[in-house]
Amino acid sequence: MREANFTQLCNTTTLLVANDSYPGPEIRASRGDTIFVNVHNQGNYSFTIHWHGVKQPRNPWSDGPEFITQCPIQPGANFTYEVILSDEIGTLWWHAHSDWTRGSIHGALVILPAENETYPFPTPDFEQTIILESWFNRDYKQIIDQTLASGLLPPEPDAYAINGHLGDTTGCPNDTLFRMQVQYGNTYLLRIVNAAMNEEKFFAIMNHTLTVVARDASYVQMFTSDYILISPGQTMDVLVVANQNVGQYYMATRPFSDGSAPPVDYITTGVFDYINSMGGLNASFITLPAENDTNAANNFTSQLRNANVTQNPPLDVPADDEINTRVYIAIAGNTLPCDPSQCVQGFRLAASMNNVSFALPRIDILQAYYNMSISGVFTEDFPLNPPELYDFTGDLTSLNTAAVQGTRVVMLNYGDGVEIVLQATQTGPGGSHPIHLHGFSFYWVGTGSGNFNNQTDPTTYNLVDPPLINTVHVPGRSWVALRFFANNPGVWFMHCHFDRHASWGMDAVFIVRNGTTTETSILPPPPGMPTCPSS
Ligand code: C2O
Ligand code: CU
Repeated sequence: MREANFTQLCNTTTLLVANDSYPGPEIRASRGDTIFVNVHNQGNYSFTIHWHGVKQPRNPWSDGPEFITQCPIQPGANFTYEVILSDEIGTLWWHAHSDWTRGSIHGALVILPAENETYPFPTPDFEQTIILESWFNRDYKQIIDQTLASGLLPPEPDAYAINGHLGDTTGCPNDTLFRMQVQYGNTYLLRIVNAAMNEEKFFAIMNHTLTVVARDASYVQMFTSDYILISPGQTMDVLVVANQNVGQYYMATRPFSDGSAPPVDYITTGVFDYINSMGGLNASFITLPAENDTNAANNFTSQLRNANVTQNPPLDVPADDEINTRVYIAIAGNTLPCDPSQCVQGFRLAASMNNVSFALPRIDILQAYYNMSISGVFTEDFPLNPPELYDFTGDLTSLNTAAVQGTRVVMLNYGDGVEIVLQATQTGPGGSHPIHLHGFSFYWVGTGSGNFNNQTDPTTYNLVDPPLINTVHVPGRSWVALRFFANNPGVWFMHCHFDRHASWGMDAVFIVRNGTTTETSILPPPPGMPTCPSS
């Protein structure tokens, strides 16, 4: 990793990137592989790398979130991550996990079937990775540092990108369309990653039907759609057949914003380009859902069903009587007081889970937990089911003003059946949240609008074929329910994958205690863990 120059939007920007490229290099592996990645920091500031969606069984040491499982890799230092794949299959990604640095440091992680294993769908002739990104004409770390200092909203991105390309409508000569060359009659597997900083995205290819086959590196029952919705953090595997008249067709992506349109309607285009096509781009433009089309967003996500119902390994959805830990989490934007000489009117924008606005410690929680001699880093009192936040009938919005800062964790016993209900308390822009959990994929068993009702809503759960995912879209003023077995000992971060919300404190940490055997306990730390500047 080091700084490199990129000319986009008629402007040259210096960004910290991997292998001098934006997006960074693609990592390809097979199911069950272990990957060693040696990261050299030749840049000007520290960072860490996270392997988004990789469960890292018993190996939180290589999970990556800064000050959660490790100290940052300082300039001049290096660290070798051991990325242990288990049942993941399909597309995941990797990204920096410190400040907003993931805006420039990210890439795809492609996990192919193991030897003698085939796809449970028509074998594609070719595949293509599609990374949706936010583009800023500034260093990403500076943006968040200045935003947090101001206490105000971060700037809107200057553009969006597909695989680093900003499209052909910017008016700047260096900006180009991403072109995907296709041959008539072939089937393509698109490996789509939403790496945008703060925006959920619609994506479509004009005149072509998309067949969704996997989400977050787990197969889903195939379904077709004219467009997809993909939230930051999520990955999706999609088949598309080049079966239209030979020609050039736009592919396009546009942000989705719950309940109201963002200030600017950004459409970013690329080209689905048939070999031997004559003439220019097909003039009739893409049909994408409108930016505020909440129904289109919900209709798409409601079609996801787990494909592994009759296959191996069988689903392990915790049944009602196997749930021994229930966690209800109200997620909200708030404000916190700040020094009036530094911020407007004495308060700053913040965000919280159960009114706890997460404060990053100075030493990573994993180290403090593992070496019990380090104290004062975190407390074990995250409010699991605060009645004042969860009266199930009240207007939650009015309760969001009381947030306090803290580094409070949820303790789980090894093997616990866990249900988490996430309640989004607000609507409108910033009202929906892509919530990501490290260390696990969870079954997304239910969703509904309004406040969660613990008597009636559980009767609507899908315990038959719930999708197994790592990042769930919680629509504005709605709830989602997740279940999983806590069978991965370690320290695991959960946070909104809108980076502005995560930096404001919309985060929580789960610690899964060791089981009774070595095989159910955290692995010993690898050599060369980075040390914290203060320790
Ligand atoms: Cu994609 Cu905590 O990250
Ligand atoms: Cu959020």
